[in-house]
Amino acid sequence: MATYRYEIAGSVLSGRVEIGGAKNAVLPILAATLLNKGTSYIYNVPDLSDIDVAIEILKAFNCNVSHENHSVVVDASDAMYTNIPQELTSKCRATLAFLGASLGRFGEADIAFPGGCVLGPRPVNMHIEALHALGLEVNEDNTIHVQGKLLDSVLQLSYPSVGVTENILIMAAASHHTIIIKNAAREPEIVNLCKYLTETGANIDGAGTSTIVIKGRDMIECQAHITVIPDRIEAATYITAGVMTGRDVEVAKCNPRDIRRLLTILRKMGCEINVSEDTVHVIKGLLDKQLNTPLYIVAKPYPAFPTDMQPLIMPLLCLIASEYSPSILADTVFPYRYMLAEELSKMGAKIHKRTGAAVITGLERIGTCRFTASRNLISHDLRGGAALILASLATEPGTVSNVYDEGYIKRGYENISEKFSQIGGNVSVKLLK
Ligand code: UD1
Repeated sequence: MATYRYEIAGSVLSGRVEIGGAKNAVLPILAATLLNKGTSYIYNVPDLSDIDVAIEILKAFNCNVSHENHSVVVDASDAMYTNIPQELTSKCRATLAFLGASLGRFGEADIAFPGGCVLGPRPVNMHIEALHALGLEVNEDNTIHVQGKLLDSVLQLSYPSVGVTENILIMAAASHHTIIIKNAAREPEIVNLCKYLTETGANIDGAGTSTIVIKGRDMIECQAHITVIPDRIEAATYITAGVMTGRDVEVAKCNPRDIRRLLTILRKMGCEINVSEDTVHVIKGLLDKQLNTPLYIVAKPYPAFPTDMQPLIMPLLCLIASEYSPSILADTVFPYRYMLAEELSKMGAKIHKRTGAAVITGLERIGTCRFTASRNLISHDLRGGAALILASLATEPGTVSNVYDEGYIKRGYENISEKFSQIGGNVSVKLLK
């Protein structure tokens, strides 16, 4: 496994940075291209290692795939059935979407159990329950093997799981029966997937709401075009960095509507933020204003505050909370997602972990809004790794921190060091082994 060392100096950010396409939207769309016996054109695709994994899987299915200049073209006309081995599924949990895609295209799927970031237990029981409820034959051994045909059904999900909703939508798009998904996930990435599936002939009502009705088509052969939505988590990363250690930071090519919960919280703290059609402009953050706590933030499924932004906002809360004005950061989606707290404590943060919540009481060094630089920070997952870069930028200018990362950050951030450099952030990365 590759290890990277990010070297980050305390910085003051200013300027304009552009956001790329959403990783979590591209991955299910790439899986769904397997259903199209014609060619799919996907635009605004970020250059990330998770995308490379999905492309490798498409190639294993004998698809012709090219990825250039942020566009991916998939020709699945000669696709052939294959089982998906652990070498590929272990790299990224979103590979589970190929279960629905293979079932839709070939009436059968065989996929090794998936990997992904270690955010606590990540079982697949809800996927299996949904497959059973749809009358499919499921065998679990070292792999998940599914076969069968969908019939008209109403599927009531016990939880609005993003992955389960996507998997069912993809398999349903290749069936001419009507599937109604109740308690479906409502994330913007689901809406983007539905747009692609509609482009390939599926009839979908209710995308972005809790009830989605989908009627697919047996044979799909078309030229399908889709533009990937901006990555709301990447946008949140640069916006939060701008608040922590910036002046006049413009985050462009994003969709402010998809990050409105974050913007509401930042304004409640006292940040001065302007929003236009596709840009969020952090005018005044912590460097220019006294920001307020206490705050009680709970990560829940969309449209609530997202779990993937939870680690990103944690360092900001550390800089403004105190013993007398603590903040609570709760997570109902991944209640064990607090590995970051130990790393931030190396930088002087005071965080008390509970299951499902962290109580943040500021910094050891009172009277400063800066972290203490550390040469020994370990990234444990994708968003936690990015959060350590934010914390390191918010140290005293001239001090340097190191973040050691086993490739997590490159799974979700294209050119993070270049993008921060564009806005005055001193971040460099070196491959160690
Ligand atoms: C997706 C996102 C991930 C995000 C998460 C929640 C992608 C590639 N990943 O992950 O970045 O953090 O949504 O917004 O889009 N669960 C079960 N059993 C299951 C499935 C899920 O218990 O079979 C649990 C999970 O452990 C977790 C919760 O349900 O606690 C939410 O999971 P889910 O919505 O399925 O997230 P993912 O699709 O894995």
